[in-house]
Amino acid sequence: MNIIVCDNYSELSKTAAGIVAEAISGKKTCLGLATGSTPEGMYDCLAELYESGKCDFSGVVTFNLDEYYPISPDHPQSYRYYMNRRLFNRVNINKSNTHIPFGLAPDPELECAEYERQIAGAGGIDLQVLGVGANGHIGFNEPGDELMPLTHLTELSKSTIKANSRFFETVDEMPKKAITMGIKTILTSRRIVVLVSGAVKHEALKKLFEGKITASWPITFLNLHNDVTLICDRGAYNGTS
Ligand code: F6R
Repeated sequence: MNIIVCDNYSELSKTAAGIVAEAISGKKTCLGLATGSTPEGMYDCLAELYESGKCDFSGVVTFNLDEYYPISPDHPQSYRYYMNRRLFNRVNINKSNTHIPFGLAPDPELECAEYERQIAGAGGIDLQVLGVGANGHIGFNEPGDELMPLTHLTELSKSTIKANSRFFETVDEMPKKAITMGIKTILTSRRIVVLVSGAVKHEALKKLFEGKITASWPITFLNLHNDVTLICDRGAYNGTS
């Protein structure tokens, strides 16, 4: 694993954007994307790089890791809304090349199978950007006794509901389920870049560095992949704020 420890969040964001910009430059690329607070700075940097002519999204196809369920794509807290606002509306990507699980799918199982089919049809993911939950989740593969390999509908854990309800007016308004890529979907990506910021994520990093694999800490499954770049700030790395 290639580990990059940055002095602060802004350096982390710039470093991540540089890696993504280089990966997409001049070629057709299939990008896996994450939402949440951590990649916000990276998306700002990518929009700036695009504005200054330093990156081009015309040949990019994207697949997001996850979407709440049920949620309308127009809901300001949906991941579709987030991606449009933070990246897709700011760069020259063809929106029909952007994929996010449909949060109002009438048949979620069918939606999940179709999502897998679309990823395979696009030739698989070249570079997957990941964030990590304080509980070690990747995508919305929550800690438990078992993990699912492929895209599936999942119940969010109590800690994720607590952490993410900050974005909703009330906890009740927050969906309690999500459609997420599975562990195998993520690990099948050719390259993975993980962004980790803040002391609250230190425990998850510690588990990753122990090198063992356990469903209690889904992040540890990244130890099975041979091309992972971890970009973290000092808070996450040292556990101090
Ligand atoms: C988001 C996702 C989640 C987040 C994780 C960290 O698409 O899949 O796994 O990456 O919950 O979220 P933040 O960055 O808000 O701490």
